[in-house]
Amino acid sequence: MAPIPKGGTVAVTGASGFIGGWLVRDLLSRGYRVRACVRDVNDGAKTNFLKAMPGYVSGRLTLHSADLNVAGCFDKIFKGCHGVAHVSHIDASGSESGGYGDDDYTKMVNDHIIKSVNESDSVTRVVVTSSVAAVVSESNFDEMVKRPVIYEDRFPDSNNHRLSGYSRSKQQAEHFFSNAAEASGRWDSITCCPADNVGPIQSAHQGDRGPWQGLMKKMLYGECNPAVHGYRPWHTVDVRDTCAVQIAILESVMVQNGERHIAYNTHKIEVEEVCARIDKLLPELGFTTPDMTEDLDEKGIARRAERRAVYAGTDLRNDRTRALGITYRDLNDSLRDMAESLITVGEVKPVLRPGYSLNKD
Ligand SMILES: NC(=O)c1ccc[n+]([C@@H]2O[C@H](COP(=O)([O-])OP(=O)(O)OC[C@H]3O[C@@H](n4cnc5c(N)ncnc54)[C@H](OP(=O)(O)O)[C@@H]3O)[C@@H](O)[C@H]2O)c1
Repeated sequence: MAPIPKGGTVAVTGASGFIGGWLVRDLLSRGYRVRACVRDVNDGAKTNFLKAMPGYVSGRLTLHSADLNVAGCFDKIFKGCHGVAHVSHIDASGSESGGYGDDDYTKMVNDHIIKSVNESDSVTRVVVTSSVAAVVSESNFDEMVKRPVIYEDRFPDSNNHRLSGYSRSKQQAEHFFSNAAEASGRWDSITCCPADNVGPIQSAHQGDRGPWQGLMKKMLYGECNPAVHGYRPWHTVDVRDTCAVQIAILESVMVQNGERHIAYNTHKIEVEEVCARIDKLLPELGFTTPDMTEDLDEKGIARRAERRAVYAGTDLRNDRTRALGITYRDLNDSLRDMAESLITVGEVKPVLRPGYSLNKD
């Protein structure tokens, strides 16, 4: 199917989020018209950063309230759009069931979006945001040893009883969209599977979202637990590079319905090295790197070594996105920008060595 035309109109779900917010900014800077879908346009804490973008004042960026739990809420928004970037999480907002891992709920919310795409009569391409978690189940160590090369056509072992609800729902969403696209004959659906997104936040509320901003925030406050996530290293990608992948997918004449594209900069980094790097990258800040020594018995030391060896033996690939023309940023730039943005935009007060203070203090 046709890629979106240059300067065309793209709807972005989850536009108030970490990835969605950058996608809005980057689409605007490439000349597109953007319909940013947020839960409540009047929620200033989450939307003011979007309204401050230059495209908003001219009308090239418009904001729309839409909760994906409500059937039909995207109908009007998608009409006339050329592309849809489905970035948002799914979330049943406090109801007893719903959210990742609930198959009926997952189907319902994806059906809401698919129906609006079908009824738009204009959308030719959808990019669905999945995750590397839908490529590899990182809690299944045997599986990672058996199949250590992690690339787009790999799926987690479906018999793995420890497969997370998040991974299952992401895989289901990919299939719902590509099947619906094939049935439509008018649009296609291509998936972006991001790794662990690092880079700058644009709004304070994003500092509390996503595991990675939250973890660096804790580090800046002087807390770092190397065992978090079972010693899994961060498989990093700059949030702006994830968005470059999504835009390349929307623009490409090469991609095919149902294809997946892993957004990953090929750098895995241990949790404590992320923390130690804050001081290395920003020596002027005077950050007090917390003591990260673990008090482990022999069993604990063996467990840590075993887990780290499994992760070190895996080979997560990004060949397909490099073939799309993506050049990934230096990880140090992403970590530096993330730390600085958490301090400036997120108003985090980092623990500093005696004699140091923030310039704004
Ligand atoms: N961050 C990562 O490292 C990472 C890695 C792999 C994949 N991903 C995927 O990338 C996507 C975006 O992640 P992110 O880190 O940008 O997350 P985020 O900052 O938490 O943003 C998620 C967005 O989804 C919106 N949302 C949630 N429930 C909604 C609903 N019922 N109706 C409408 N909007 C809803 C949120 O709106 P509110 O602001 O109103 O809550 C928010 O804008 C997700 O699909 C995630 O699974 C992220």
